[in-house]
Amino acid sequence: MSKSRRPLVAGNWKMNGLKKSQAEVNKLIKKLTKQHLKCDLLLCPPATLLTRFKNAAKGSRLRLGGQDCHGQEKGAHTGDISAQMLADAGATFVIVGHSERRADHQETDRIVRAKAGAASAAGLKVIVCVGETAGERRQKKTLRVIGRQLTKSIPDKSSSSSTVIAYEPVWAIGSGKTPTTKQVAEVHAFIRRKLVQRFGDEGEGMRILYGGSVNPVNASELLAIANVDGALVGGASLKASNFWGIAASY
Ligand code: PGA
Repeated sequence: MSKSRRPLVAGNWKMNGLKKSQAEVNKLIKKLTKQHLKCDLLLCPPATLLTRFKNAAKGSRLRLGGQDCHGQEKGAHTGDISAQMLADAGATFVIVGHSERRADHQETDRIVRAKAGAASAAGLKVIVCVGETAGERRQKKTLRVIGRQLTKSIPDKSSSSSTVIAYEPVWAIGSGKTPTTKQVAEVHAFIRRKLVQRFGDEGEGMRILYGGSVNPVNASELLAIANVDGALVGGASLKASNFWGIAASY
């Protein structure tokens, strides 16, 4: 971890959470007032809860984000949500290109790039997700796939303040399986090289998160790996105690 990169621990609630889930957020806010974290803490609940959570988090250091946005500013796209709407509801971040979106909604790198661009235009910081499937890893295509995703999904104008990368092996998400320390180190070093090649110092400053079955037990080992600047957490972010346990391992 470079001194200049403050770690980020981000929670992705996916399609989970109702009004009553605010109890978990309240616990996080309370912990934040009592204990100083060495990382930024971000929660990405469903869009329906953003404003509610934003109001609850007023004055606290908890940041809020969306889980996806449309690639266009506005218009006739029934059921979609724009980056500006997320910002208006209290988000300061948005995740784009999550593998569940890429798989469930056939999102290509080109679509993800448009989303990242729309997010930046609306003033949101963007977390761009990349990662290989189990089959791609078996076929030794991991770095090739990730190289392509990085090149094609990240807009040219990206900077260290606007953009965070999340490496999430698809086979590690929600499976309880994690890559070895060596595998994580290899991919994160590769991503860093690619970012520096393309963005220079800005690439050096971009945070690279690891995501996929992070929990309070494995967090300290994963977060200590070179070029791992935080975590993107799914299942374990739903409970404040688990999510806090991960963030507090810094
Ligand atoms: P998981 O999900 O922590 O439940 O594996 C991670 C993610 O999809 O961001």
